[in-house]
Amino acid sequence: MKKIAILASGSGSNAEEIMKHFGQSPKGKVVLIGSNKKDAFVLERAKKFKVPSFTFNKSELESGEVTQKLQEAGVEFVVLAGFLLKIPDNLIRAFPNKILNIHPALLPKYGGKGMYGMKVHEAVKSSGDTESGITIHLVNEHYDEGKIIFQAAVQVEPSDSPEDIAQKVHQLEYKYFSNVIESLL
Ligand code: GAR
Repeated sequence: MKKIAILASGSGSNAEEIMKHFGQSPKGKVVLIGSNKKDAFVLERAKKFKVPSFTFNKSELESGEVTQKLQEAGVEFVVLAGFLLKIPDNLIRAFPNKILNIHPALLPKYGGKGMYGMKVHEAVKSSGDTESGITIHLVNEHYDEGKIIFQAAVQVEPSDSPEDIAQKVHQLEYKYFSNVIESLL
């Protein structure tokens, strides 16, 4: 049973799906949730699932304190589920090919710094693209550029608002993310 940590900055609906999934899978267990936002709703979700959580700031992430905390907890696999800070080299070196991110679009489109959450869906809407989707990829030292493990697409209708696109993309995330994590454990 592999020990999983999730890092998240916001609502944590993906984190919740993952905690639910691994509450029932013998392959892995979510042992820790970390957030860089003290008021992130993901912390409430962690409580609900009785998963220990902690918060940290950017300099604690960059100095290696977060890496140490994960190592002390025996973490073997790290999942970024709506985590908005850049992952520093010390964390990447400690978990080589063991950090997985989900991005709410079909990379390499709509990736890079500043492209997260609703900003991505607004960009898709204003481009007039007829599809969007999800990209699940390993994390390296460049934003959104690690090896792509899985993608799934969804049709975008001309009448879809950015919120509609977000909802369609979330459905794909909930459907696939936990299974892709499990396949890599
Ligand atoms: C998700 O859609 C995830 O793909 C996205 O943030 C959302 C978090 O939602 N991640 C990024 O944009 C990373 N660049 P959640 O907090 O409800 O899981």
